[in-house]
Amino acid sequence: MIFGRQDKETPVKRIMPRHIGIIMDGNGRWAKKRGLPRTAGHTVGAANFKTITRYCASIGLEYLTVYAFSTENWKRPVEEVSALMKLFRQYLEEALRDFLNENIKVRFIGDTQVFPEELQKLIRETEEVSKNRTGMVLNIAMNYGGRDEIARAARILGEKVARGEIDPEEITAQAISDELYTAGQPDPDLIIRPSGEQRVSNFLLWQSAYAEYIICDILWPDFKPQDLEDALDEFSRRQRRFGGV
Ligand code: FPP
Repeated sequence: MIFGRQDKETPVKRIMPRHIGIIMDGNGRWAKKRGLPRTAGHTVGAANFKTITRYCASIGLEYLTVYAFSTENWKRPVEEVSALMKLFRQYLEEALRDFLNENIKVRFIGDTQVFPEELQKLIRETEEVSKNRTGMVLNIAMNYGGRDEIARAARILGEKVARGEIDPEEITAQAISDELYTAGQPDPDLIIRPSGEQRVSNFLLWQSAYAEYIICDILWPDFKPQDLEDALDEFSRRQRRFGGV
């Protein structure tokens, strides 16, 4: 079920967002409901991440951003963090192998320099092999936090002012956007949060200023392409005004 205004009876003309963000939430609860360790939920969540990514590419989405690991997720028990690191390594190794023939350009957003060297190497390789692809751009947010990202942009601009390269008046909203990890990409039109939690959780804070939010009570491992289709229908019914009337 999708929360919010819905009118499933009226036929809707599909309006395709250019950029979708997904908070892949609910893996732990999915596992708990089945009497399994939380890490089992992440494994199924990772498999679903591949399914939904491929589906988004197949329907012609231009940009997909997924929240895989936040700057706050380090607070989780050490076994859970290690299991997630192992999954990321596995996925990237698979992505290098299996996604070779898929036209998906993979980018990482967040401070990835804190990850183990082996994982960083895979991150660099994955970006390198996919950089000339022309299909969907997949941003994987890892050690990502919206506040960190904005603070980083402010620091970069502050340094430019200190070096005399720009004047303080040149620090505009556009100048900040241009220093974010997502520089050059359109802002997300739609952010989907499965699992029923009604929070932003530090995801794409700056970029989501006018994004439509869709919260649904399906846990991420159970979120199917049909649920994405339902979210797209709901998005098509929304009237976006961007602060106008
Ligand atoms: C949130 O669910 C999920 C995460 C913190 C991890 C998301 C990671 C994956 C789906 C792995 C796949 C990603 C890649 C790039 C391979 P939660 O654990 O907070 O769930 P809960 O709220 O039910 O506890």
